[in-house]
Amino acid sequence: MEVVIRPNAEAAADLVARVIAREMRGNPRLVMGLATGNTMESVYARLVQMHGEEGLDFSACRTFNLDEYVGLSSNHINSYRHYMNHHLFLQVNIDLQNTHLPDGMAADLVAECANYERLIAGNGGIDLQLLGIGQNGHLGFNEPLSALRSRTRVKILSPVTRAQNAPLFPRPDLVPHRAITMGVGSILDCRRCILLATGEEKAAIVAKAVEGPITSMISATALQLHPECTLILDEAAGSQLKESDYYHWVFENQPEWEPFRAASSPIAKNGFQAKHQLEKQPVEAMSDVLE
Ligand code: GLP
Repeated sequence: MEVVIRPNAEAAADLVARVIAREMRGNPRLVMGLATGNTMESVYARLVQMHGEEGLDFSACRTFNLDEYVGLSSNHINSYRHYMNHHLFLQVNIDLQNTHLPDGMAADLVAECANYERLIAGNGGIDLQLLGIGQNGHLGFNEPLSALRSRTRVKILSPVTRAQNAPLFPRPDLVPHRAITMGVGSILDCRRCILLATGEEKAAIVAKAVEGPITSMISATALQLHPECTLILDEAAGSQLKESDYYHWVFENQPEWEPFRAASSPIAKNGFQAKHQLEKQPVEAMSDVLE
């Protein structure tokens, strides 16, 4: 796992969009796993901008969203299909046939979930999975106690999640009680994961996800098992992490981040180095360093 902390939410979303764009340019047939929520809106806005200004080409890529509410049709304003069409799909040159979300109106929800898994596998699996995080640490709608090996299925939404998503609905009681979501195991199967979290209200759960023990109570902790997972945060969302100096150090020194370090901070780099050198000095040598 890597943790990248950017100065603000805009810079964090910009970095996520630039990583996605690089992957798309490297593989025009990229299979992307997509997420919804307020946090993702600025990532999609940036991708739309790159499409318009730099010709970022979506024509051959394929997408699979994490989840969809049960009981909302695709043209319902609160459905995730509507969200994706509005924020991304209808603003870029993607072929809508290549965009997939679970069907929350399916007559047979169990069959729909199995079919969604088959469809992902039939497309060769997900190359790059974009993730947000709920206030209770869910990924997609993997609510507390979601098995770490779970696959796409129907989940009951927790009171915390229903309350978190209620402002988007005309009335809180209109928030659906269930959703189809890719499982934690389905998410862990993707080749690379990028989780974006911004804002102080995510700080406590982000700290648990990164530095806490792995537990099915917080599905995001399962990302510690993923071999290629990056969390991109703003300062506020990273504010409760204990080892942020170390995460800055990795970002500043990891060659893979070289093209993305335009606004890098030499203070973080040298500060961490100096602090560690000081910690390693024998007591008698400290006065030399401090003079
Ligand atoms: C919903 C989605 C999640 C998303 C979460 C965070 O619950 N199912 O995939 O991560 O919202 O939303 P926000 O970015 O609005 O905090």
